[in-house]
Amino acid sequence: MNFENILVEQANALATITINRPKKLNALNKATIEELHNAFKILEEDTTVKVIIIIGSGEKAFVAGADISEFAHFSVKEGGMLAKKGQEILFDFVENLSTPVIAAINGFALGGGLELAMACHFRLASDNAKMGLPEVSLGVIPGYGGTQRLPQLVGKGKAMELIMTAGMISAEEAKEAGLVNHVTSQEELLPLAEKIASKIMRNSSVAISAAIKSVNDNFKDGVNGFESEITEFGNCFGTEDFKEGTTAFLEKRKPEFPGK
Ligand code: COA
Repeated sequence: MNFENILVEQANALATITINRPKKLNALNKATIEELHNAFKILEEDTTVKVIIIIGSGEKAFVAGADISEFAHFSVKEGGMLAKKGQEILFDFVENLSTPVIAAINGFALGGGLELAMACHFRLASDNAKMGLPEVSLGVIPGYGGTQRLPQLVGKGKAMELIMTAGMISAEEAKEAGLVNHVTSQEELLPLAEKIASKIMRNSSVAISAAIKSVNDNFKDGVNGFESEITEFGNCFGTEDFKEGTTAFLEKRKPEFPGK
């Protein structure tokens, strides 16, 4: 896959996307958002890919936000369109992928950067990482789902404070708040993400997709997550993975899931 602003590598069922604009601290311009959408779409359609890791290039930033230079002159209508399109093609898109996506936050994750990490299924951070939603310091609010996903992850009060102060929190503080699951050194960040990915890959990818959908449905308006769980649970009984998983257990051997 050839892109200008991102790198995509694939090895042994693992795909790694690196956002590659280090001179701009990997800020998300329009082209990068479109490339990310295309890369995620291609990887989602590739059934050999079982886990996707996303990281920023360099040692300073995951993503330092949406590219401010691109929207500084926007009108009300253009601002609304920017948020709508971005949410649709990248942030909601990633959250609803059936392939698990892990964010490896290797430095600043600010504004759209933190919003992208929050759209991923879960997050790890390096100990130098700094996270925040500084939009109100620019006279705007988070527009890529930050006002919704931050309260889901850390609770309303903490989210309100972080958004209103436009402050940054350290990786350790983020872990304590439930925003990231693990903190490690910068050198160990990708190896840790890969280790967790390899644990995920041992399991049924069909069941994992069903689990992602059920968990996400808890947060959707007008959708009853418990009912989704019942449907998804039932559907699992019709899969080859279920047959293999239960048979392997009863035969006291490791399952080899066909992913169907
Ligand atoms: N949009 C566009 N460009 C950005 C950017 C963003 N969100 N974040 C960083 N950059 C650019 C800087 O303009 C600078 O470019 P230049 O070298 O051409 O001048 C380059 O990336 C390096 O950033 P710089 O500010 O010099 O690094 P720093 O170490 O002094 O500060 C930050 C790092 C992250 C604190 C600072 O870049 C920052 O506050 N960025 C904006 C964060 C933000 O508000 N994000 C939310 C956007 S909605």
